[in-house]
Amino acid sequence: MKLLHIDSSILGENSVSRQLSAEIVAQLQKKHANLEVEYLDLGTTDIPHLTQEILLGQDIEQSKLGEDLVDQYLSADLIVLGAAMYNFSISSNLKAWVDRIAIAGKTFKYTADGAVGLADKIQKVYIASSRGGIYGEKSPIDFQEAFLKQIFNFTGVTNIDVIRAEGVNLSPENRAKAVAETLDAIHKL
Ligand SMILES: Cc1cc2nc3c(=O)[nH]c(=O)nc-3n(C[C@H](O)[C@H](O)[C@H](O)COP(=O)(O)O)c2cc1C
Repeated sequence: MKLLHIDSSILGENSVSRQLSAEIVAQLQKKHANLEVEYLDLGTTDIPHLTQEILLGQDIEQSKLGEDLVDQYLSADLIVLGAAMYNFSISSNLKAWVDRIAIAGKTFKYTADGAVGLADKIQKVYIASSRGGIYGEKSPIDFQEAFLKQIFNFTGVTNIDVIRAEGVNLSPENRAKAVAETLDAIHKL
C-alpha cells in the first residue's frame, strides 16, 4: 500500500501543518503494516506556475515533471496533505501542484454527463489543515479546505478527512491548545 505524504507550508520546523501531517503518517504506519511512504515537499520542490508551453508539451523538462506528478498522484492509495490557510485559500506552491495534477484525460475526463474523476486508486485523503484564525467547518470565507475538497472530489476522491488546528496565531496559548487537541484527535484515528 502506497501513501503519498505532501507538505506545503513555507515555515519549515515552525509549521503546524507539517507537525500534524507527520503525526498522521506515523499513526497510519501503525495501522497499516508495509505502508510505503513517498514524500513530496512543496516547500522545497520547485514546481513553476503552469504555462501554455508546459500544457502543450513544448517545455519538455516541465511537461515531464507534470507527468511524473500525475503518475505519483494516481499511484497512491492514501494521501496525507499538510495545508495551511494563506489569504483564505491555499499556498501558491500547493496551487502550482494542483494545476499540474488536475489534468483532463489523466485525473479526470469530460463526458456527456459532465466531468468524471479518474483517480480511483486513491482510497482516502487526510488533510492536515492549520489556520491562524477560527473558521470552523463550513465558513463562507474558507477557500482553503473547501477548495481542496473540491479538487480531490473532482479527481474522483470522495473519502476526505480534514484534521484541523485553528486559531494558532491568536496567542501562544491558543496555538499550544489547538495543536495538543489536534494531535489527540490524530492519535484516535
Ligand atoms: C502568507 C500567509 C497568509 C496567511 N493568511 C491567513 C488567512 O487568510 N487566514 C488565517 O486564519 N491565517 C492566515 N495565515 C496564518 C496561517 O494560516 C497559520 O500561521 C498556519 O499555522 C500556517 O500553517 P503552517 O504553520 O503549517 O505554516 C497566513 C499565514 C501566512 C504566512
